[in-house]
Amino acid sequence: MALETSRVAYERARQSIGAGVGSGLRAAMLPHPLFVREARGAHVWDLDGDRYVDYVMAWGPLVLGHSDPRVVEAVREVATRMQVVGTGHELEYLAAEAVLDAVPHGERLLWSNTGTEAVQVALRLARAATGRRRVLKFARSYHGWHDSVYAGLAESDSDRPAVAASKGQSPSVLDDLVVARFNDVAMAERLLADAAERDIAAVLVDPILSNGGVEAPTADFLPTLRSLCNRYGAVLVFDEVIAGFRVARGGSAEKFGVMPDLSVFGKAMAGGLTQSAVVGRAELIDQVTAGVVHAGTFNANPLALAAVEATMRVLADPAVYESLENISVDFERAVGGVLGAVPGRGSLNRVGSLLQYVPEGGDTGLHGTGGLWGAILEGMLRRGFLFMPSGKVFLSTAHTTSDVAATAEALDKVLCDL
Ligand SMILES: Cc1ncc(COP(=O)(O)O)c(C=O)c1O
Repeated sequence: MALETSRVAYERARQSIGAGVGSGLRAAMLPHPLFVREARGAHVWDLDGDRYVDYVMAWGPLVLGHSDPRVVEAVREVATRMQVVGTGHELEYLAAEAVLDAVPHGERLLWSNTGTEAVQVALRLARAATGRRRVLKFARSYHGWHDSVYAGLAESDSDRPAVAASKGQSPSVLDDLVVARFNDVAMAERLLADAAERDIAAVLVDPILSNGGVEAPTADFLPTLRSLCNRYGAVLVFDEVIAGFRVARGGSAEKFGVMPDLSVFGKAMAGGLTQSAVVGRAELIDQVTAGVVHAGTFNANPLALAAVEATMRVLADPAVYESLENISVDFERAVGGVLGAVPGRGSLNRVGSLLQYVPEGGDTGLHGTGGLWGAILEGMLRRGFLFMPSGKVFLSTAHTTSDVAATAEALDKVLCDL
């Protein structure tokens, strides 16, 4: 692959855009971000017209692959009639009904734009319902870049264990967070036993630790969080921005059989357009009629909701999830087999169609990986396979067994060349 045109485009982008990328983490791509001019199915084409098998899938949303014709047609049809109207329209409730039909605990929802925004809405609802201030979250979880949740766990056992994860964050909001360890049931029990004194309004959990290694919850973790929230009066919020509609049509509640009070969905729900939602108990959501402010010019815009409605219609067919599971098992077997063939190469974690490269004996950390991943990332790009800098791998229904076989073959060559 001739990456020179992308390198030149990146240099030009850096003159007009901070860091040369639209979202900061994309700058970590090696040897530099790829510049794409077309994306269809499981493939993207760069500015030279070279084709790549894409395992980035826009960092998660594209469960059906790029440019699914059913989604594109729905958006095109609406776009010729309206774009954003700032008033009610039919798609608001048609798309909402489709989402609520899929989510087991979905009684009502609120539309928002991004995952980051919708997480803030969910936390506001939880604070309003409980009259409490703090949020218990888990280290190595990502819930968006907003000051109020972008924090890690301090090494020391201080009484204020959240530490800022970005320069420029307001230190005052860190006191609103209590940070626990994912899958550490005893720690959650200890912290939540004093939920009232600690002023804990909500437990915010990504049920799969999607950004910290794709780690599945242990059998007792989510049920324990559920019963602790019931006992100590906190709101259980699942952040399903990555996992939702990817691991199952009904999200984590369906997959793990634990009902949160609220779930936050984003990414996959709109098949490539921008839309998110807070979904859950009507009693919590209906606080927006009793003093809880929820607003946004572009909330529920017709283009995105046409995409949501079309995507949810496709996802209602169980064959979609069968095909996602089959291709993901195939990838795990073929690509995991190449990694496992020689000690020291690392391995794959997998939950459904969400996978993560894990270095030998290693820990991936938030948004990061290590071991051979940097070399694999660059080597695979040069052979026509696009992966994420963090080592996460997203499959879609558009990927085929021949894409996977070609990926495994190329990976073997890349690893042998190291
Ligand atoms: C689990 C999780 N929550 C929230 C977000 C934030 O979503 P957005 O990037 O749409 O603001 C992300 C983004 O990757 C995410 O993975």
